[in-house]
Amino acid sequence: MSNVLLSSDSNELHERVLEASDGACVALAVGDVLESAPADLIARAGQSSLPDVVVLDATDNPEHALGLAARFDLELPGTGVVLIGDPDALAIAALRVGARDVLPPDVDADLLRSTLERVHAAVRVRRGAAGDNAPHTIAAVPAKVITVLSPKGGAGKTTIATNLAVGLARTAPGSTVLVDLDVQFGDVATALGLEPEFTLEDVVHGAALRDPIALKTHLSLHDSGLSVVCAPESPVAADSVTPDQVGALLSMLAMQFRYVVVDTAAGLEPRTLAALDQTTDPVLLTTFDVTGARGLRKEVDTLRELGMLNNARQVLLNFADSKSGLSVSDVEATIRTRVDITVPFSRAVTSSLNTGTPLVLQRPRDPVARQLGQLIVHFSGIRASGSRR
Ligand SMILES: Nc1ncnc2c1ncn2[C@@H]1O[C@H](COP(=O)(O)OP(=O)(O)OP(=O)(O)O)[C@@H](O)[C@H]1O
Ligand SMILES: [Mg+2]
Repeated sequence: MSNVLLSSDSNELHERVLEASDGACVALAVGDVLESAPADLIARAGQSSLPDVVVLDATDNPEHALGLAARFDLELPGTGVVLIGDPDALAIAALRVGARDVLPPDVDADLLRSTLERVHAAVRVRRGAAGDNAPHTIAAVPAKVITVLSPKGGAGKTTIATNLAVGLARTAPGSTVLVDLDVQFGDVATALGLEPEFTLEDVVHGAALRDPIALKTHLSLHDSGLSVVCAPESPVAADSVTPDQVGALLSMLAMQFRYVVVDTAAGLEPRTLAALDQTTDPVLLTTFDVTGARGLRKEVDTLRELGMLNNARQVLLNFADSKSGLSVSDVEATIRTRVDITVPFSRAVTSSLNTGTPLVLQRPRDPVARQLGQLIVHFSGIRASGSRR
């Protein structure tokens, strides 16, 4: 039986691939796949292992499908790609990008089944030749390192980081770690109701930076399944944590977790810049007012200079208020990029902080929790109900 990832908007094709793969098929809409990296697609599909075969519907946008097939060939050679489209028009181009076959859109389930089996067999040989017979677990997929930044203090970084991390942790056991990089005054432990045995200080000075097992034993565990590196108890101890150690810690965590969420101190201090070096997905946050927007503009400009203002980034406006005299498009004009999510004011946020229970767990229907749910879906591709995009 082949484990298949299908990208198509056709329900009929989905049903035929399901039949041909004996139900071992996860489907994503073509729109969700555009401009995504192969590793992102796999994580978004929520599969626990790499697919044996990826079926890409190339009928509407063959160039995009060919580009994605080429990336799979280079980045995840342990999967085989089959294109759906006009075989006469696509065969040569498909060969060039390393796709295994092109099947017409009206292909029947029998031909699909034999093609999936043939491609799966070829992929097994390729994996074996690479000396790679280990199960292709999701750990083979590069992690997302998601760093929450804001130009000024009190904008809601810890609120966003803790809720996002707990939400991601619930999508798969052992998938997520949260690092409190607000080394002086970090309050992730308070927000999660944790009393850590070890903190960032112990983690970077002990054996944990050299030994993955020691590292795991230094993490605090939240009831949601989230692992946490809490900030040092004393602001003085914070000085002993260097940017290089931060970089080493994040790259080690990225080898062991699917999602590494980083809460930061306000602004771009050296440890935050070290985290940005490892970051795949920055989350920029500011308050919904003129000074907040101006601060955000500087931060956006910095990320632009660092080449990090890509599609992966998310821009959030917190404390959004329609009566503030400011509109989202005003802010977008100031920062010269789009705002992705607005988060309203809600008293429930502070009470969740005071009781040490993240809002997405305590009050999932609260308007703030719903907006944060959008952020969780953006990164995981999995809706809270368990249904997938
Ligand atoms: N959308 C919101 N509605 C109501 N209160 C909020 C909202 N977002 C954050 N808060 C409250 O604002 C305060 C600051 O939030 P938080 O600690 O998350 O910000 P921060 O950016 O991490 O701050 P710091 O820079 O000090 O670390 C907290 O009391 C929090 O409960
Ligand atoms: Mg904070």
